[in-house]
Amino acid sequence: MLPDSKSTNVCIEKECVWLVRRVVLLLTVATLELRILIQKIMLAALLASSVTLGAASRPGSAHALPADVASLNPPLLVNRSSRPKTVEVNIVAAPTRLSLMPGKMTEAYAYNGSVPGPTLEVREGDKVIVHFRNDLDEPTTIHWHGIHLPFEADGSPFHPVAPGKSRDYVFTVRPGSAGTYWYHPHPDHRTGFLIAKGLYGGIIVRAADDPLPKSIAEKLLILSDNRLNPDGSIDFPEPRSHHAAVDEENGREGNVLFVSGKVMPTIRIRRGEVQRWRIVNASASRVYRLAMPGHPFMHIGNDGGLFEHPVDAKEIVLGTGERVELLVRGTDKPGERRVLRALPYDRYIPQTRPDDWKTTRDLLTVETTSEPPPAPVLIPAVFRAIPPLDIAKATATRTIVFSQGMINGKKMDMSRVDFTAPLGATEIWAIENVVGMDHPFHLHGFQFQVLDRNGVAEKFRSWKDMVNVPKHETARIIVRYDNYPGKWMFHCHILDHEDHGMMGVLEVK
Ligand code: C2O
Ligand code: CU
Ligand code: CU
Repeated sequence: MLPDSKSTNVCIEKECVWLVRRVVLLLTVATLELRILIQKIMLAALLASSVTLGAASRPGSAHALPADVASLNPPLLVNRSSRPKTVEVNIVAAPTRLSLMPGKMTEAYAYNGSVPGPTLEVREGDKVIVHFRNDLDEPTTIHWHGIHLPFEADGSPFHPVAPGKSRDYVFTVRPGSAGTYWYHPHPDHRTGFLIAKGLYGGIIVRAADDPLPKSIAEKLLILSDNRLNPDGSIDFPEPRSHHAAVDEENGREGNVLFVSGKVMPTIRIRRGEVQRWRIVNASASRVYRLAMPGHPFMHIGNDGGLFEHPVDAKEIVLGTGERVELLVRGTDKPGERRVLRALPYDRYIPQTRPDDWKTTRDLLTVETTSEPPPAPVLIPAVFRAIPPLDIAKATATRTIVFSQGMINGKKMDMSRVDFTAPLGATEIWAIENVVGMDHPFHLHGFQFQVLDRNGVAEKFRSWKDMVNVPKHETARIIVRYDNYPGKWMFHCHILDHEDHGMMGVLEVK
């Protein structure tokens, strides 16, 4: 990072401390005033460092964006509805043959022929109608990971879609839920296999009043890995082999890392430009410790959307199923390149820890172009208010014990309800990982807030539907069951663990 941006970041921190104090003060007064404050106080953060960079410093010819850059974001689902506030799309899951690895063809499964599937882009308040057809030769579903919706639309194992059959998923996007989500199959026992075959896609929920400037370019970076044979075919271990047992223990990891379906793509950025990266971890088990050496991120959001204010981060640990939103700023000289890396992360038990776990993986290259710097943008110091769920209102405290392959000593049973809670209740869940391997917890249907990890209070609030619980640690969350009765899954999001029974059912009624 250049020194000028460092000082900007410091300035942001101070500004934030000051703002938080103001916000706390004002919250006790009136939320209306807070809104006005948010609108009024715009911080000249991330002011472009364009002073030393004029048009004169542009070497060579103007830079046209090559096709690979334009196509890094997956295609969008086409809205077939002409009604206002309605998004109506068609999705077909079907076998296909496509190129995952350059120069190789792969027998895969795809949503509408693309891996990742086309992005579902909607706005808060939209009515969403998805006409889904299953052209696979096995049952499947589409689960809308993280979205607050009716039970019948959840695409959980309770509502399988048989081969050749169709199902409509209908839901209304809740106000305040703007953020980055994703969709994937969720049939009983087969989620890991179907995602490995290529079935996953992104969801962007846009806010009516997004506090970030519209001029900022956005990238949807869906991280996934796959194990591919040299001929391009997807490599699954022989059932009951040693390799299968290791996969079942660790969760399947792949030798090829993809960003939105591309291997080591290049993102181009102008010096002084700010980009908004929405990152999804769609991997079956891989945890990404993201870093761009010497170039901190501005972390602006999590699973359920924007934070209250931006936070500087040198590294981001992105567990399976999780999403983050980052602001990345071009600070290098034209022509310079930087690599977004996944640093080693030890989530394993020693017995099955892969030999190469300490390898740093390259994900993508960021190249600074010679185009003139864009006009500076203003990043607000406060994005929105995230009111805390009230601990005093919690009517139950539940303990979820993650051991290897089980939750509270039990394997998943579709005919069993593990917990029952009244609609509207607020509850605290303590997720205790009693084994020497990380297990990422996920709850369907409801966003929650993390209270503390290992007794240490969470530094700031955010909306989450995932929390990675590291080996021998405990995380406590608070959740309120708004609106929708039904049977909601909670599970470990290492897909092999989920498929082998690390899942339970919460019935809200
Ligand atoms: Cu992303 Cu139950 O799933
Ligand atoms: Cu989910
Ligand atoms: Cu697990």
